[in-house]
Amino acid sequence: MYKYNADDLALIQERAAQFREQVARWRAGTLADDDFRPLRLMNGVYVQRHAPMLRVAVPYGMVSAGQLRALARISRRYDKGIGHFTTRHNLQLNWVRIEDVPDILDELAKVEMHAIQTSGNCIRNVTADQFAGVAPDEVIDPRPLAEILRQWSALHPEFAYLPRKFKIAISGSADDRTLSWYHDIGLQLDSIKGEPTFTVLVGGGLGRTPLRAQVLKKNLPWRHILSYLEAIVRVFNLNGRRDNPYKARLKILVQSLGLREFTRQVATEWAALKDGPATLTDAEYQRVAAYFVAPDYKTLPAENAELPAQKAAHPDFARWLARALHPHKIPGYAAVTLSLKAPGQAPGDITADQMEAVAQLADTFSFGEARVAHEQNLVLADVEQGRLFELWMSAQKVGLATPNIGLLTDMICCPGGALCDLANAQSVAIAQAIQARFDNLDTLTQLGELSLNISGCINACGHHHVGNIGILGVDRQSEEYYQITLGGRQGKDARTGKVIGPAVAAARVPDVVSDIIDVFTRQRHPQENFAATFDRIGSAPFKSCLKEKSA
Ligand code: HEM
Ligand code: SF4
Repeated sequence: MYKYNADDLALIQERAAQFREQVARWRAGTLADDDFRPLRLMNGVYVQRHAPMLRVAVPYGMVSAGQLRALARISRRYDKGIGHFTTRHNLQLNWVRIEDVPDILDELAKVEMHAIQTSGNCIRNVTADQFAGVAPDEVIDPRPLAEILRQWSALHPEFAYLPRKFKIAISGSADDRTLSWYHDIGLQLDSIKGEPTFTVLVGGGLGRTPLRAQVLKKNLPWRHILSYLEAIVRVFNLNGRRDNPYKARLKILVQSLGLREFTRQVATEWAALKDGPATLTDAEYQRVAAYFVAPDYKTLPAENAELPAQKAAHPDFARWLARALHPHKIPGYAAVTLSLKAPGQAPGDITADQMEAVAQLADTFSFGEARVAHEQNLVLADVEQGRLFELWMSAQKVGLATPNIGLLTDMICCPGGALCDLANAQSVAIAQAIQARFDNLDTLTQLGELSLNISGCINACGHHHVGNIGILGVDRQSEEYYQITLGGRQGKDARTGKVIGPAVAAARVPDVVSDIIDVFTRQRHPQENFAATFDRIGSAPFKSCLKEKSA
């Protein structure tokens, strides 16, 4: 894991000191609200429905046991002892006081964390694969380049005030676990004759205008990644619509210019930057890559000899393994997802006690590190197969072993009306109503892989567009209604779902989800998952079923 050097540390300490002074001036009334607003946003401080919220970055999802313990301490001391993991590797503390934020930033700096650029019109936290470095389908470990991008984008003087927020994801695997097709820039790493290269995707995004990205460049040699990104962000900075926040994202610029013209403008900017000082050297890559060397793995048999008997003796353990495990490239190891989607829990929420418990699990089972997954779960990436049973027993005790990873109740969900000022709807209450309806693990397991994503408004923080079932809160004459989309998905084949009928009242949502599931179970071929059935039969059977039911 990357370790701050003296310069990194000085930078975030100075930034925290600067914010302390800004807060003091604001409290003294010498800094007006309107002037303070962009400053607090650049430091991750929003003002939500009930209280200010601080969004802390977990760059490309890597978090150490020590950092988790610090987050637990901070959430107990300055918040309500709870945090919320977002879909972009951030932890939100939803009940802080602005006057405490400078102290929180100091506490974070002690464990090499910060909240810089987690909000505001700047380059946000770079996101990556939660299985980076361990996934068998990985071609290149994206973390060294993700860290280089973090350093490049943090407080980049030219890009401090972009037309709108700017999100970058980087993936180095055959499959795409980063939603790179729905980012302003999606970077897909590959290699040509051992040299890393990038496919650069641009203009993706969710929100009110969901757009899948387009391929801007293929086979970009890794050395040019900073100058090439600089060229893209320059074109955006110069031409993005600053007059209209709804049309200000890069996706709208790419759409309005057309890919050909956008490519031309990027090429012109790049010509002036290419081979300049931003060109990465082997020495710089090696300096950063040295932080991501593999831990001290043991030599183990590929299959642990005790697992079959443990599974046979404990069916609940077998059920958990079937959902929580992800293969590992080192024989005898596995990556394990800890579910933050226990029944009744707001998806992505974690208590301070659980943060400490995960820290302990990371220390005991996974070289002291954990990962944040964009599905709002946590991952222990390096667990010996021979210790999975022990891990399961411990994770169960702290409510982190619900065997629902990838199933319908592993929902992505934004905080919605419970906290967010922009919400039309109580997305968490809807999530809980669906959890309550689908509380039978056998049924869930039989349904197989199925993503259900919920957003409380058109901003799409809950990724509803790319859920197999997407649920969007809309306002109908001050009443909560929900629009349902089907067929969306993430991954290599990412796409936007289609609306399947008029929005339905909040109370009907669990019934509508049940009806959709009924159509699926009647029509599916053996072992087929929801997305495959939807592709085969289309939306018509779902639409006609819902029409009949609402008639
Ligand atoms: C204070 C609470 C929040 C506010 C005010 C907020 C605001 C917004 C807004 C205005 C957008 C639309 C941006 C656009 O289309 O240009 C957006 C998008 C998004 N937000 Fe949030 N958000 C909040 C919390 C969250 C949380 C908790 C998550 C994760 C669970 C999240 C993840 C996202 C994602 C993934 C997108 C869409 C991706 C994109 O196209 O940029 N946000 N948010
Ligand atoms: S989708 Fe809407 S309601 Fe949900 S967090 Fe985003 S802005 Fe708030």
